[in-house]
Amino acid sequence: MGDTTFRPTLGAVEETLLITLYGRAVETRDQNGLLDDPAAVAMVEAIDYDFAKFDGKPSLPRACLRTLTFDHWVRAFLAEHPAGTVVEVGAGLNTRFERVDNGRVRWIDLDLPGAIALRRRFFREDEPRREMLAASVLDTSWMDRAAGLPGPWFFSIEAVLPYLAEDRVRWLFAELTRRFPGSRLATDIATTAMVANQGKHDVVSMMAARFDWACDEPRDVESWAPGVRLAEECTLATLPEELVAGFSPARRERARTAAETVPEKFGSSRLSLFQLRGPEDGAAAPR
Ligand SMILES: C[S@@+](CC[C@H](N)C(=O)[O-])C[C@H]1O[C@@H](n2cnc3c(N)ncnc32)[C@H](O)[C@@H]1O
Repeated sequence: MGDTTFRPTLGAVEETLLITLYGRAVETRDQNGLLDDPAAVAMVEAIDYDFAKFDGKPSLPRACLRTLTFDHWVRAFLAEHPAGTVVEVGAGLNTRFERVDNGRVRWIDLDLPGAIALRRRFFREDEPRREMLAASVLDTSWMDRAAGLPGPWFFSIEAVLPYLAEDRVRWLFAELTRRFPGSRLATDIATTAMVANQGKHDVVSMMAARFDWACDEPRDVESWAPGVRLAEECTLATLPEELVAGFSPARRERARTAAETVPEKFGSSRLSLFQLRGPEDGAAAPR
């Protein structure tokens, strides 16, 4: 490691943000890569960590496909609600704001304290449109802050909920639905097979953090709180058509190949987009 790098202090679940960061850096360095995230390359170069242990692991490009899908859903939300609020939950060192900013969105990057301390080394708050909050997604303090920003809201929760216990996930859906009617929530949902076999996962097995929540049928979440509706879902093999249509032929081929690496023993985890109480459920019309 060079003299200019520094070693971050991260808790077990916080450390997992380095996996997805590295995935974006690897894809960026490859001229046929799935995405372009030069900031990820710079952050990897600045952090003293054994990233090489992730080299060649097939789940890295898969994580990038997930990220592109969330970008796609956030862009679609902003096309309808250009002055709405996006909360990036478990933001890690994600650069979604840089990829989708429309010049009007209000944005919160939320993560646990160690992750936000690291994030502050690389990202600036840009009042009044962009801020960082150090809190658990299970705290209500950040919800109070988000509620003070213009609605509707988009909760982008990528690679976070599988680390929580199911009762906490249930509470979160109910609370967000109650407090933020008319909003959307995107999350990935691990299969029970994935969680049962996580010890055989190519990178999760290298981490101390463990998956907990699993669900084989995302529509079951609809029964957790009145007004929760599964609006869209896909797997890495069935990405949204409009997203794939924007890929170059080389990127399309790379995406197809990456999706094929999901081990059968894990099943197909879903990427799910939920509507939290639409107008038909009595939500106020979005401002
Ligand atoms: C696998 S990383 C994903 C990071 C980022 N979403 C990405 O895709 O690059 C998981 C992230 O979730 C965060 N996280 C885990 N549990 C959390 C919680 N209870 N509240 C907020 N963030 C949490 C971790 O600190 C970490 O940044």
